[in-house]
Amino acid sequence: MCGIVGYIGNKQALPILLQGLRDLEYRGYDSAGVAVLDNGKITRYREVGKVDMLAKKIGTKSMPGNIGIAHTRWATHGGVTEFNAHPHLVGQNPPVGKGVLSVVHNGIIENYRELKKKLKDQNFESETDTEILAKWIYERYDGNLAKAVREALLDVRGTYGLVVMHADHPHQLIAARLGSPLVIGISDGEYYIASDVTPMLPYTKQVTFLDDGEVASINGDGLKIVNLRDEIVSKPVTQIDWDQERAQKAGFEHFMLKEIFDQPTVFEDAVRGRLNMAEGTAVLGGLNMSPEQMREVKRIIIIAEGTARHAGLVAKYAFERLANLPTEVDFSSEFRYRDPIVDKHTLVFVISQSGETADTLMAAREAKRKGAVVRGIVNVIGSTIARETKAGTYIHAGPELAVASTKAYTNMIAVLLLYALQFGRLKHTSLATGQRLLQALLEIPEKMNVVLKQNDSIKKVAGRYKDYHDILFIGRGVNYPVALEGALKSEEITYLHAEGLAGGSLKHGPLALVSKDVPVVAILPKDQLYEKMKSSIAEVRARGARTLVIATAGDDEAKEIADDIIYVPDTMELLEPLLYTIPLQLFAYHMAVALGRDVDRPRNLAKSVTVE
Ligand code: M6R
Repeated sequence: MCGIVGYIGNKQALPILLQGLRDLEYRGYDSAGVAVLDNGKITRYREVGKVDMLAKKIGTKSMPGNIGIAHTRWATHGGVTEFNAHPHLVGQNPPVGKGVLSVVHNGIIENYRELKKKLKDQNFESETDTEILAKWIYERYDGNLAKAVREALLDVRGTYGLVVMHADHPHQLIAARLGSPLVIGISDGEYYIASDVTPMLPYTKQVTFLDDGEVASINGDGLKIVNLRDEIVSKPVTQIDWDQERAQKAGFEHFMLKEIFDQPTVFEDAVRGRLNMAEGTAVLGGLNMSPEQMREVKRIIIIAEGTARHAGLVAKYAFERLANLPTEVDFSSEFRYRDPIVDKHTLVFVISQSGETADTLMAAREAKRKGAVVRGIVNVIGSTIARETKAGTYIHAGPELAVASTKAYTNMIAVLLLYALQFGRLKHTSLATGQRLLQALLEIPEKMNVVLKQNDSIKKVAGRYKDYHDILFIGRGVNYPVALEGALKSEEITYLHAEGLAGGSLKHGPLALVSKDVPVVAILPKDQLYEKMKSSIAEVRARGARTLVIATAGDDEAKEIADDIIYVPDTMELLEPLLYTIPLQLFAYHMAVALGRDVDRPRNLAKSVTVE
């Protein structure tokens, strides 16, 4: 996701800012920009593409100054253009000319349309929420920059990590945070601000982490942190002992573990601004279809590979149950070579984390050629599938660097559930059901945290399974795809043979594999298929298989049929995969670590499969 860097001190700001942006490149971005203040004038450069392109654009042009801000942008509001890139520069003071207040911002200003209408200055350079925020601050400025920022933020709904610089304040930067991280590095009268500690590690290990609702004013006198009511907040200074790589992983041992733990936060990013509680529905503009056109959709086909396909399989249950729409899920690699029957009443969702998977891209083109309505559900902004499917929806999971996909999966499910609800509410899903589902979705991050807190005990459980050669995963209904995903996670990073099965299919063949040497992981939520799943578990236990059961919190009966048990909080049946998959991600992770595997870069696999 976007990256912020700020510097104020006695060194030249530009090289520090550019290097800082490079250090944040691992977060992913599509454009970059930098602004430096000198002699009452802000000079700014922005460029689409890599930081190196920005550096090339600046070239040998003079950009002196000891204070500046910089940004790498991952597009959300508005396309990938230079005008939409940060820093934004607004305001006009007679002696200085155009551009006196500059802002870099991560997050989403949800009420930016409302604020936009109320601005005195109605000339806009960009399509972004950030430019509106910059103007909102500027219109509140009366000589006191910190006060203007605080007052402006009181009117804002949404999330931000932001840094503000003003041409009249050559020794002051203002930083504020709500929901989007900011860290301040401190070193002998010099200050570094960034989205994470990575860019400041070469200069200082002393940092202060801003918390939500805090505003920092950094100037010649030092650092002052207040809340939005202007009350002083005293903050500890933390000594960071990480190297840069460790810092990028936020202190976790591997990217995969960090990304598993990112899930509650990025899940909120996937649903934020997309729920309409009053109407019990979702607000996803990505389809670009009127309600009438949506009612014309008669079938849904989901095409994807790997984990993205498993998210699609979960969504099949939601589209059929909520929207009464026949839904088919296919491997992209199969879809493109069969003779799919599609027409203008067929809506094809193409799901991809990277947006670059060759088979999925080709399948999308094939569906389009045959006259289907094709929409992308993608993580990487500006990726080929995102561009080619034009309309569509970003899942906002942030950069996923580990080969094994985790947080993209939960966010794909979140977006697909919202689509299913949106279609459902145009047909037969009741207001009450819609509201119940939205409420349950809002509770998911907290429940994910409950699961994540069991990390240590899941690690112990994983230790008991790592030495087997084969593991079976079984689930039913909406948790059948969870079994598939659990098996995929395990096999790709542990190299053990793992298979996901529908519980009911065991006795039609796979039961022959079960013995004391082949343990079984069973997904056993207290839902409509509970009793059936218990029978499947009984079948494998009768053949001597060690059984790990993932059950609903409070289900004491489950303990009696399990060798090992992990409990997950209760939720609505359609939402269960959002919680039940997490213990399986951790289970796979800890087995792989114990086996000494290269967890983030397993053998023979690539993060993005751009060849057939
Ligand atoms: O980038 P995509 O979502 O299109 O990738 C699809 C699969 O290649 C991907 O999910 C793969 O299966 C992962 N390694 C699973 O963890």
